[in-house]
Amino acid sequence: MKIQRPPSAALLPVPAVLVTVPGDPPNMLTIAWAGMVNGQPPMLSVSVRPPRHSYPLLCAAREFVVNVPRTGQMEIVDMAGIESGADVDKFKDYGLTAAPAAKVKAPLIAECPVNIECVVRHQLALGTHDLFVGEIVAVHYDEDVLDPEGRPLVDKIDPLAYTSGEYRGVGERLQAHGFTVEKVKQRRQRRKQ
Ligand SMILES: Cc1cc2nc3c(=O)[nH]c(=O)nc-3n(C[C@H](O)[C@H](O)[C@H](O)COP(=O)(O)O)c2cc1C
Repeated sequence: MKIQRPPSAALLPVPAVLVTVPGDPPNMLTIAWAGMVNGQPPMLSVSVRPPRHSYPLLCAAREFVVNVPRTGQMEIVDMAGIESGADVDKFKDYGLTAAPAAKVKAPLIAECPVNIECVVRHQLALGTHDLFVGEIVAVHYDEDVLDPEGRPLVDKIDPLAYTSGEYRGVGERLQAHGFTVEKVKQRRQRRKQ
């Protein structure tokens, strides 16, 4: 039996990432409402509440970096999602390095294995949050998380997921995309017969 519940943020898992914005000092905040939204040009979105210290910085700069933390960086993720840049210099307090980005003014968090530079192309006020759609203009990986062909190794990145108020890893590999191709071919054949 299904149990119907009131509408809520029911989609899970979502990533837990650190979004950096330019400022003096530059700031970071934890974002769980982030996701890919377009392929070409590649775009992702982040949803930010206007009361956040980062919000006016993001509105002014219209650039940001999505830094993908490892599960081992969970404490920083939690703290950056509780403390405000209005009160603390998070880079300094957390002992993190603000590395210059290639194409935007927001800094990379050097200690995060993946850094995605974005330029805001759309901003949409939805109610509690503003949706910022950013075009991805550069991506950086720690060299040890790439295979010899330059493909990212998820197990090495070890990214953090957020699920109903809990942090989790992404778990073990189950299958590769397209593992049902043969089965789909057979089904098509059967339908033709
Ligand atoms: C796991 C987690 C996920 C969060 N996701 C979001 C989010 O998607 N959007 C948002 O506006 N705030 C989110 N927050 C809250 C902000 O990170 C938090 O209010 C932070 O202190 C804001 O920092 P700032 O004031 O320096 O900008 C999240 C916090 C945590 C712990």
